[in-house]
This record gives sequence, C-alpha cells and structure tokens, in this order.
Amino acid sequence: MLSKKDLLGLNDVPKEEIELILDTAVNMKKLLKQGVKKLPNLQGKSVITLFYENSTRTRMSFELASKFMSAVAANISASSSSVAKGETLIDTGKTLDSMCTDVIIIRHPVGGAPALLAQNVKASVINAGDGMNEHPSQGLLDMLTMKERFGELKGLKVAIVGDIKHSRVAKSDIFGLTKMGAEVNLFAPSTLMPSGIDSFGAKICSSREEALSGANVVMGLRLQLERMKGGLFPSVAEYHEFYGINDSHLKLADSNAIVMHPGPVNRGVELSSSAIDADVSLINEQVKSGVAVRMAILSLLTKK
Ligand code: NCD
Repeated sequence: MLSKKDLLGLNDVPKEEIELILDTAVNMKKLLKQGVKKLPNLQGKSVITLFYENSTRTRMSFELASKFMSAVAANISASSSSVAKGETLIDTGKTLDSMCTDVIIIRHPVGGAPALLAQNVKASVINAGDGMNEHPSQGLLDMLTMKERFGELKGLKVAIVGDIKHSRVAKSDIFGLTKMGAEVNLFAPSTLMPSGIDSFGAKICSSREEALSGANVVMGLRLQLERMKGGLFPSVAEYHEFYGINDSHLKLADSNAIVMHPGPVNRGVELSSSAIDADVSLINEQVKSGVAVRMAILSLLTKK
C-alpha cells in the first residue's frame, strides 16, 4: 500500500515505497510475459486519463494497464472536452468526482497542475507529466528496466545526456535513482541545464567523455523544442555533433552498458540511428516496463 492518495512526483515518495512499486511491477511484468491480460485488481474501479498534451506511450500504457486489471477506463482529450469551453481544471476534476471516478491520470503543460487537482478531488491523482517538473511513472519504469538488467540500482552509474532543463523525465529519474543509491551524471549545453540543478544530488559533467566514462546506463533525452522560447543552441546538426551519442561515444561507457531513452526519439539528433537500434538498446524494453509499472501503481494506489 502507498501512504498517499496521489502519485505526484518521486521527490516525495519514500525509498521503501519505490521498492514496493518496483517489486510489484516485476511480478506484473512476469504475468504480462506469460500473456496474462485479465487480473481482478481494479474490478469495480473507474480510471480516467485527462491529457492536455500529446502522448503515445504514457496514455496508452495507463489505459492498457487499467483494462488488464479489469477497471472501467475512459479518456478525455482536452481539445474535445469542456476545457476548450473555458472550464477550470478544478471544475473538470469535480465533474469527474461526481461521476464516481477512482483515479484521474493527468498530463498538463503547467508544472504543479496535478498537485492542484489532487488537493481538490476525492479521486487519486497520478501525474503523467507536468510541464518541466516530474513524470514519476516514467522514472519508475526506467528504474524497473535498469533493475531487471543489473539486479540492483545501488551503485549503478547512469549518464543522462540531452535537454535536461525541459525534461520532467530527467527530474524524476534523478530523484528516484539517487534515492535508491545510484550515481547520476548529467551532460547538456549550459542553456539546457536547469537552474538549481546543483541541489538535485546528481553530478554535472563538463564533457560527454566525463559523463559517459564507465557508465552502466547511457540515457538520451529529446530536445523539447516545443518548450523553448528562443534558440538555445545554434542548430540541430551542431547539437548532434557536440551533444549527440553515437557508437563511438558508447565505447566510453562500461562494456556491459545499455542505451535508454524515454521516447519519442528524434533519430540522428540525441542518439544516432545505430545507437537506437543497437543490441544494447533497451528502448522497447522500457515500453514493456511501462505497462507493468503502471499496473503496479494503479493497483497499489487503489488498494485499501
Ligand atoms: C516524455 C514526456 O512526455 O515527458 N515522453 C514520455 O512520456 N515517454 C519525454 C518527451 O516528450 O521527450
């Protein structure tokens, strides 16, 4: 069981609860691999996904996770709902409460929007990505993927390279991984490094070599151009040249290193095509972990 009604970010989830979610997700993933797609855990519960931003993996995996555990699952896309008629987030939430919704899964361009919703509804709220703040279920699925590959997270060296400033995934990964005893190296152009990053517990590296050297995990991040107001680097080609990762950069990492990326990937920008398709790339495995982790979160949050 989890101590809070909502899952808003990994910064405020205790280590023991992260362990519980990951252990539960390991079992869920085993069941999925056996082809089990009907569990009773969410029988009688209703789950609504409320997405104010685009999504493929996150929305679909929450929806499948709900359905695989026998919940009634429905989706609201903001562009076709009363949100487009000027309804506030809180009023939308109260409307969903009145329909006896047990869980609302929200993605929103503004950091803190899921927390505001959570304070104003009876339903459990899961943050599926809020602005540049956090994306806890992605952090958990990344940790599950690493834990399954390496056995434990403690002592792992994880290099995160790319647009860290705009990445809610990077924030949740840093909070979760450092809590579990992993070491996180960060490398990005200074314009794409968030202010206050020094207090996050990760190491800020001054070169790609320093970040990747001896790393067990090399994670690329998408350039989130939709969140950039002005030019924060000269061109995409130059970005790839100085901050992208290709096969020769991977040689700097540990000989058993894996490649990860939360998706969607822009081929040839943050990672070369051959790094994306390499045998050591676990990008598709991350997607598998995503369904299992979301099953674990939903089942633990709704357990009384
Ligand atoms: C990420 C997101 O939306 O924050 N994607 C995801 O959920 N898998 C990263 C991104 O959009 O680049």
